[in-house]
Amino acid sequence: MRTQVAIIGGGPSGLLLSQLLHKAGIESVVLERQTREYVLGRIRAGVLETGFVNLMREAGVSKRMDAEGFIHDGTLIAYDNEQFRIDFAEHTGDHVVVYGQTEVTRDLYDARDAMGGTVIHGVSDVELNDLTSDKPYVTYTLNGQSQRLDCDFVAGCDGFHGPSRQAIPLDVRREYEKVYPFGWLGVLSETPPVDDELIYSNSDRGFALCSMRNANLSRYYVQCSLSDSPDDWSDQAFWDELKRRIPEEAADKLITGPSIEKSIAPLRSFVTEPMRYGALFLCGDAAHIVPPTGAKGLNTAASDIHYLYNGLKQHYQDKDSNGLDIYSQKALSRIWKAERFSWWMTNLLHRFPDQSEFDVKMQRADLEFLRDNDAAQKVLAENYVGLPF
Ligand code: APR
Ligand code: PHB
Repeated sequence: MRTQVAIIGGGPSGLLLSQLLHKAGIESVVLERQTREYVLGRIRAGVLETGFVNLMREAGVSKRMDAEGFIHDGTLIAYDNEQFRIDFAEHTGDHVVVYGQTEVTRDLYDARDAMGGTVIHGVSDVELNDLTSDKPYVTYTLNGQSQRLDCDFVAGCDGFHGPSRQAIPLDVRREYEKVYPFGWLGVLSETPPVDDELIYSNSDRGFALCSMRNANLSRYYVQCSLSDSPDDWSDQAFWDELKRRIPEEAADKLITGPSIEKSIAPLRSFVTEPMRYGALFLCGDAAHIVPPTGAKGLNTAASDIHYLYNGLKQHYQDKDSNGLDIYSQKALSRIWKAERFSWWMTNLLHRFPDQSEFDVKMQRADLEFLRDNDAAQKVLAENYVGLPF
């Protein structure tokens, strides 16, 4: 089989790229290891920057997002039983859209089906071959049969654990990583959100976050030990701990209910350089990971897809390779700023096991400065709504 762009990974990155390329008349094939049901079963943050929303519109996949997404003009930051608001609209004139990543992925799959896009599920043994030649190809196994996909380019959209990043030789690839000494215990409950906006809370017991998916589906997190497992936490224990970590005014109105999903996610910052190797272009989690504190995971994938899509369009339509030649440098420039913001928000809001009393005082001073200073709030707001592509 042959295509112009072989896309490894049928998560948001791979599907969005495939949809955009198709609309530009560029062929692609998506190779996905899991079933569609498995991919759609993933619970992930759904805070969308305007850049991502615009890409979904450009891809013709925004109807449900526009109808069901919540526009958020601000967020709440809490500590010491008090909370203050960061007004995105006032500081940036922009906002974010809250719309679950599961729904984004579902809409992208539906759009691929509607356009007759090729997404092959259940592949295994994916290998990338001859990436530095002018005839790269991908091999994989499907239903026990070995397959070969010849292509012009390979988009590595296969997430943190996929094969694409590993296809860049170790003497070419440079990796940067920071692993945080705690996790996030997340609960999904069919209950109304505690507030109209998200609450990020720093408490002396640890971080907590109150988020949502829709008017009757809430998402809550508490910082937990990496040695914890979800089974260590009864629903009641979770709700009791969450209430201890958010201001009383929020705890008093919190509506609890049975968890319909409960999981623990580790936190890490990770970046691979370069994001291109010959015909291979890494996108999204295949190239970089952020701690979820800044809600940047999907939004950093968006700018990668934006740069790669436009570079491929320029290559095929204008016979100009400039966009592809500067892809890695351009993508990394924005990625590192999102990594910094996510790292900063994580340090601002979490309790670290080795934190000294002085460190706690510094955190408190940071929070009070943020509470009282417009310039500090503008910096947070500009990063949260998303830096320009
Ligand atoms: N072969 C084929 N597909 C693979 C392979 C493989 N060897 N390895 C992984 N995949 C698939 C995974 O099953 C997954 O569906 O690649 C896809 C990668 O999707 P994601 O991990 O969701 O990464 P991405 O599409 O970049 O989306 C980034 O996901 O983790 C969140 O916070 C992150 O919101 C961000 C988003
Ligand atoms: C979520 O709703 O899952 C969510 C929201 C904001 C974050 C992280 C997760 O920063």
